Amino acid sequence: MFDFHRKSFVFVTCAGGAQPMLEREIRALGLRPEAARPLGVALRASLDDCLRLNLHLRTAHRVLWEVLRTKAENADQLYEAVTALPWEQAMPADGYLTVVSSVDNPTIRDARFANQRVKDAVVDRILAARGRRPDSGPDRRGTVLSLHWQGRSVSLSLDTSGEPLSNRGYRTMPHSAPMRETLAAACLLAAGYDGRGHLVNPMCGSGTLALEAALLATGTAPGLLRENFAFLHLPGFDPARWQALRDEARGRARPTARGRIVATDHDPQALAAARHNAAAAGLEALVELDTCDFRETAVPEALRRAANVLIVNPEYGLRLGDEEALKPLHAALGDFLKQRCQGYVGAVFTGNPRLAAHIGLRTRARLALMNGPIECRLLLYDLYAGSRRHQDE
Ligand SMILES: C[S@@+](CC[C@H](N)C(=O)[O-])C[C@H]1O[C@@H](n2cnc3c(N)ncnc32)[C@H](O)[C@@H]1O
Repeated sequence: MFDFHRKSFVFVTCAGGAQPMLEREIRALGLRPEAARPLGVALRASLDDCLRLNLHLRTAHRVLWEVLRTKAENADQLYEAVTALPWEQAMPADGYLTVVSSVDNPTIRDARFANQRVKDAVVDRILAARGRRPDSGPDRRGTVLSLHWQGRSVSLSLDTSGEPLSNRGYRTMPHSAPMRETLAAACLLAAGYDGRGHLVNPMCGSGTLALEAALLATGTAPGLLRENFAFLHLPGFDPARWQALRDEARGRARPTARGRIVATDHDPQALAAARHNAAAAGLEALVELDTCDFRETAVPEALRRAANVLIVNPEYGLRLGDEEALKPLHAALGDFLKQRCQGYVGAVFTGNPRLAAHIGLRTRARLALMNGPIECRLLLYDLYAGSRRHQDE
């Protein structure tokens, strides 16, 4: 059933708004994105391609490989269609199954019922063939099936990632309101950071933006940091092939970055978390961390002919009262960008447009990016070099 070389419909999910960056990443792997959808990018690819997508993509959440496309009016028809597939060849009888779904069908009031019917169909089939039933539950540690059922149209996919790809494995010490790693990567790419100029990240919190920048600047595949992917649990999976892909990716990673990566925060606990996470990622030598108010950040002279990016993710002030207190901070951020960051692209990721208005600079672009359920903006500013001289490369 799982021919690793057969091409199938693949849907790679990402944060809403990150599709253009994801499409570019897919193209860079030599694959051809077919369509951007509201929550991801569609293409045709083999399971072997999915291994590479899981290993290399920075902005993707999950890589879904379609195994069944059919029509079903109701849950009984869904069960019949799913149980017709040879699941006994697709997962070990002592495996672990997780089913997730997004359902919009008039006969289904609770998506958990659709999950249950898919799970029953797979488990009953394996029980009949092997005399044993696999375990199941919500943990995403084994085989993960993803059901998309819209009206009568059913698409059932193997989630080849399992745990979302944002869980890189390095953020062992979170701090307040950390960004998802995949969203941080999308912000960096959208700001034009390509790892060749400097990257400065005041208000760094647990260091997600700086660490994603370090991965990007060294050409390190983000999947190298993770142990588990759902495709590892497929019968027919070839560990030697996976090892070869990992070795190749490791061989391409550079030990140093061309530009500097500077991250600061005024909260010593945030710095402790950032330091801890940098060590967990093996990137502590690449990221220069300092405890200070953002205004005191030592911004390196911009490198010429390179995209130097200063990126900040200030608190949004979603609770009443906080917003007032954050207005002067945003005004000061505008002054800091204007006076201290010439030659940089300024990038501010915020969920609060009212506060963003206090930055007081003209934006070059305002990109919408979803942070979970919150619609955020990545504001980009061109901070032209004034009298300050540029350092040559
Ligand atoms: C929303 S969090 C950043 C989260 C970060 N992107 C991450 O992924 O962990 C905002 C950070 O700004 C820091 N901060 C707030 N005011 C600051 C100031 N005046 N100077 C420096 N850091 C500040 C806070 O300590 C907090 O860590």
